[in-house]
Amino acid sequence: MTEAQRTYFLRTFGCQMNEHDSERMAGMLEAEGYVAATGPEDASVVLFNTCCIRENADQRLYGNLGHMKALKDKRPELRIVVGGCLAQKDKQAIQERAPYVDVVLGTHNLASLPRLLRASETEPAFEILEQTEVFPSALPARRFSPWHAWVSISIGCNNACTFCIVPAVRGPEISRRSGEIADEVVRLAADGVVEITLLGQNVNSYGRDLDGTPMFSKLLRVLDEIEGVERIRFTSPHPKDFRADTVAAMAECRSVCEHIHLPLQSGSDTCLKRMKRAYTRRKYLDKVTMIRKAIPDVAITTDIIVGFPGETEEEFQDTLSLVEEARYDAAYTFQYSPRPMTAAADLPDKISKEVVQERFERLISLQEEISLERNVRMVGGTQEVIVEGVSKKNPGRLSGRTRTNKVVHFDSDGAPEGSFRTVRITGGHPHHLKGEVVGTSREPAPRRTLKLPLISSPASR
Ligand code: SAH
Ligand code: SF4
Ligand code: F3S
Repeated sequence: MTEAQRTYFLRTFGCQMNEHDSERMAGMLEAEGYVAATGPEDASVVLFNTCCIRENADQRLYGNLGHMKALKDKRPELRIVVGGCLAQKDKQAIQERAPYVDVVLGTHNLASLPRLLRASETEPAFEILEQTEVFPSALPARRFSPWHAWVSISIGCNNACTFCIVPAVRGPEISRRSGEIADEVVRLAADGVVEITLLGQNVNSYGRDLDGTPMFSKLLRVLDEIEGVERIRFTSPHPKDFRADTVAAMAECRSVCEHIHLPLQSGSDTCLKRMKRAYTRRKYLDKVTMIRKAIPDVAITTDIIVGFPGETEEEFQDTLSLVEEARYDAAYTFQYSPRPMTAAADLPDKISKEVVQERFERLISLQEEISLERNVRMVGGTQEVIVEGVSKKNPGRLSGRTRTNKVVHFDSDGAPEGSFRTVRITGGHPHHLKGEVVGTSREPAPRRTLKLPLISSPASR
């Protein structure tokens, strides 16, 4: 590192949207001449891209900032930046709780990072906007993976799930022009990306604000035509907007993976109503049946909240019985955490910590059994995986991921990250599979020609 070399260290909390925003923060800094540092100790700028979905996400940030104080005392020229959802939510509170922070920016003004950083050379620069000024995809990005890319198709959310702070901190839904999305994917493929994940809080309502109708399934079909992209994933569809046309596109598009993350939240109609999820247990299960019929061997995963205000034992039993019926490959389970700016924060009948914990454990143990059964069923079959790297626990092994998003560990044959392998599954565990390599090459599926119309893209979005 030379005297003049400016370096940055970036820590990301939260979901894939934040991961991707971090790629843009890194991209903007690198465009300004910064290079990545190995840790906060040797960085000229330390950035925290924050999350506030549950209370423990808040605590984690303030804990991290506490550690930064000692570093700042030692090196006053160090710049500390806080961006993202928690910054959007807490605004001035960050300055009050951590006065040594130099820059605070929210979710709507990512593009201002270089300007605010420059301004902070004279005094702390705090700026939180209430509306997005530039669709973030227009910003430079430094991709963290050579073979996988996040692709933002919409930002914000127009739903009003009563537990969720996302609409308050990310604003209303704005869809990105499909022509611009396709252009980006063509560029990514040319750059060696083989797998993309489309990102939006509610991908199935994509396009509603562009031409009045949701057009997610059309978008999948357009992107499926792009040469070089072998796998398309997306997250997350809202069950109320998940329709047959999307299932058909998933079944028919060769690159769209056989995995769907369909957040349930609760299996009880009365609880779903209090959550304002706008579907019933029956409707949700009907969608699961429709998906399983159209896409053989599809993997379905979900999110479930335990201990929502007023959740009775009967309501919780409904969640357990739905989990039994739906047979998820995996479930992300969360204990309800009251959030400011959400309707549920004011609901009566909070559930005690002990009851929540006990239900949470019952739910996890049921799901573990089902996950194990789903994974054991795969033993003996072969799967195509993309190698993600050396296994964390055993350097002689590689980890890869199947199209159904399952992690497979197998003896290393030296395959580099991003390469394809065919593996025979030799063992099934609740959270991963074991396998052995049986093939190293793959036949790319035949290509079709691009024939679907695109919405053209004005530079502003
Ligand atoms: N837009 C996505 C969800 C994003 S938040 C969707 O609708 O699918 C990711 C998950 O966090 C949610 O699915 C929910 O299960 C969980 N979550 C959100 N708010 C929460 C809260 N207040 N307490 C506990 N879990 C919460
Ligand atoms: Fe939150 Fe609901 Fe929007 Fe998902 S759909 S981001 S849970 S408000
Ligand atoms: Fe994501 Fe957390 Fe924000 S889940 S949208 S980073 S509140």
